[in-house]
Amino acid sequence: MQHDKINQATVFVIFGGGGDLTWRKLAPALYNLFVDGYMPERFAILGVGRKPIADDSYRRRLREGVDEFSIGGKTDQQSWDEFAPHIVFSKADLNDPQAFDGLAKELSAYDETWGAKATRIYYMALPPSVIKPIAEGLAGAKLNLDREHARIVVEKPFGHDLNSARELNRLLTQYFQESQVYRIDHYLGKETVQNILAFRFANTLFEPIWNRRYIDHVQIAVAENDGVGSRSGYYEHAGALRDMVQNHLLQILCLIAMEAPVSFDSDEVRQKKVDVLRAIRVIRPEQVHQNAVRGQYGGGWIEGGRVRGYRSEPGVAADSATETFAAVKLYVDNWRWQEVPFYLRTGKRLPARNSEVSIHFRPVPHQTFPASALLDSRPNRLLIAMQPEEGILLRFEVKHPGQSMALAPVMMQFYYREAFQVRSPEAYETLLLDIMKGDSTLFMRADQTEAAWGVITPILEMWRSVRPTEFFNYQAGSWGPEAFDILIAQDGRSWTLPTFLQCREDLAICRVAREPME
Ligand code: NDP
Ligand code: BG6
Repeated sequence: MQHDKINQATVFVIFGGGGDLTWRKLAPALYNLFVDGYMPERFAILGVGRKPIADDSYRRRLREGVDEFSIGGKTDQQSWDEFAPHIVFSKADLNDPQAFDGLAKELSAYDETWGAKATRIYYMALPPSVIKPIAEGLAGAKLNLDREHARIVVEKPFGHDLNSARELNRLLTQYFQESQVYRIDHYLGKETVQNILAFRFANTLFEPIWNRRYIDHVQIAVAENDGVGSRSGYYEHAGALRDMVQNHLLQILCLIAMEAPVSFDSDEVRQKKVDVLRAIRVIRPEQVHQNAVRGQYGGGWIEGGRVRGYRSEPGVAADSATETFAAVKLYVDNWRWQEVPFYLRTGKRLPARNSEVSIHFRPVPHQTFPASALLDSRPNRLLIAMQPEEGILLRFEVKHPGQSMALAPVMMQFYYREAFQVRSPEAYETLLLDIMKGDSTLFMRADQTEAAWGVITPILEMWRSVRPTEFFNYQAGSWGPEAFDILIAQDGRSWTLPTFLQCREDLAICRVAREPME
């Protein structure tokens, strides 16, 4: 990572700072940036929430988050002792305009102490429904006016549907300039996701075959073994389609399907991605059941431990209709991708945490070899593994050694950890640093968020109008509901199961490139 320390004094105001995002992602990222020397000398992290939390308890809670989730490993006592005093917590009723006058005073106090005007980053780490009063509160206290120093960060999902996203965009641009708004989708900060751009546009090799002539179909999978945890307050109103497909999976699809940008300029890249979203074929209501599958987990076993079903999780309704699994088939209607299906799938409480893109190439147009040579033969496949393993694998055919002609698939493999032997920065480290620097290349533009909602709205509406009768329909620890297999089997194809699984004795699976995988 190139060293790019920020000199500008900075205050992170995290609304919803007592929630899961702050604990799991933001705290580890800020701590790692601090340890790696990227944070400015003068900085503060101000968590804001409805319940009072003493500063010490809040610091302890965030430290637990770092210890549990940081890819940089556990906190080191000395670094933590230096980092912790920068963290404070304030209780505030976000519907009360006076709370923002209090915040304005707190922020001015930092400026006075530091003798400099700090950049103020207002981070919305809470459900989209609460953003409106906060944006209004910030504006009411004139905390939005300084275009150079005030930035607002809005998490995905951006709004709840197309109309609310439009309304939210209108609201934000009423109070902030577009350049002050950072719509975050942390998948865009992942090294392996960014590498899709490098892989596609810094090599001549793949571009000629990156189209419908050579590619049969694409699978994008983000599997999680975690359940909903303590996040039911948010998740019950979101569900897998809003939580993951509308943003993370569609953004990956855009990177796979986009045309080459003329330059790495932020607007140029974002424009090419919007072009993809706009080309995605709209699924008509009567087509939803053939092109989308939803699921909800029941109880089961994960990593050798018994886990409860979604409807028994704290804060979840006993008859909840929220989906924890979604699979969707999409087409990109343009010259490059006409009639090439993109299969997207994601779910919670699946057997393993694993995200990957799998590009399946067409079989050779004419078989030169006799049928007896082809028993083990498979079309080429390119795999972009995003997590937990990071790498790229290419499957191709070779002659199996021996006196007879028999073909066998082999893998050419590239692993980040072996090639570079450095820790990849976590997505949030990259994105928080970019926000501090004022670089919006990896963030979503207003039109992108709206175009993405446009893609999934027909599915959302159909699912809302037809209550699922079959929930729960997959067991925790399985790969999803039965209908999920049918979605792809009806096209004569099958799902690719994860290539990499971390060594897990309970599953008797070790981290190896398994082949064949279908
Ligand atoms: P949580 O439910 O854990 O936390 C949300 C926080 O929002 C809570 O601390 C709560 O504050 C506050 N909140 C909820 N409702 C209200 C309300 N009506 N008024 C004021 N405050 C409220 O959710 P997450 O932290 O998981 O998610 C927050 C956002 O971050 C979502 O948009 C999610 O998509 C996104 N995100 C989450 C990730 C994760 O790994 N968790 C990763 C990427 C994005 P209080 O403590 O005061 O009750
Ligand atoms: C978040 C979702 O955006 O991404 C969570 O709200 C999900 O539900 C998380 O668990 C997954 O992120 P990652 O980086 O762990 O794959």
